Amino acid sequence: MRRNLAAGNWKMNGTAAALSELDKLATYLSPDDAETVICPPAHLLFSACEKMRGTGIAIGAQDCHSAASGAFTGDISAAMIAETGATYVILGHSERRDAHAETDSDVAQKVRAAWGASLTAILCIGESGVDREAGNALDIIQKQLAGSVPEGATGANLVIAYEPIWAIGTGKVPTLAQIVEAHDFIRAHLISRFGQTEGDAIRLLYGGSVKPDNAAEIFTAENVDGALVGGASLKADDFAPIIKALPQA
Ligand code: PGA
Repeated sequence: MRRNLAAGNWKMNGTAAALSELDKLATYLSPDDAETVICPPAHLLFSACEKMRGTGIAIGAQDCHSAASGAFTGDISAAMIAETGATYVILGHSERRDAHAETDSDVAQKVRAAWGASLTAILCIGESGVDREAGNALDIIQKQLAGSVPEGATGANLVIAYEPIWAIGTGKVPTLAQIVEAHDFIRAHLISRFGQTEGDAIRLLYGGSVKPDNAAEIFTAENVDGALVGGASLKADDFAPIIKALPQA
């Protein structure tokens, strides 16, 4: 049985004042709600972890370097993230694949680094609008899964977020049938690679323009175990209804 997960990706938004949204979110949630993780910008990780201790809300980072330490100006290692108290890290987000030219093999190395620091990786995959239009979505997903998911994936160390690039921040959402097709495809891939037990245990999130008014329909899909939410995770008043739309598991 997979526990549903709502993950909020704040991207490069939020100064210390935004931490009050975490306090507010914590007052809205009960232990029966889906597991919740917020991924704020790196400078807020320590204080977010302090604030959320004992609330059940987990904290994650948005990227890590694949090396343990060294001359990598501006980067942060998985162990550094773990030291803040964070337990998750988003890896391979399309904004990083694009703006930082991250390849599948770069992402796979980062996933291994995250595991080395006992972080759970939220690995993002998803096709562009051009690939979707050309009918290549599943081929792209297959290639990204093969290239960026390392051996050794389990339900405890990996979450996969399917985020069609054309749906991120655009207000466009795939049809439910397209979401079901992609998630069923990802599940089948994971089972064939990692066996029935682990393949079934890895949680699959949908991401891309999830809002309070479309979440419930998206969550009806059997292989959608939650959401990775950008814009609508910044305000507790928007994110809480999305979390509460997830069936309790
Ligand atoms: P969005 O972003 O919810 O603002 O579309 C999702 C994401 O990039 O993870």
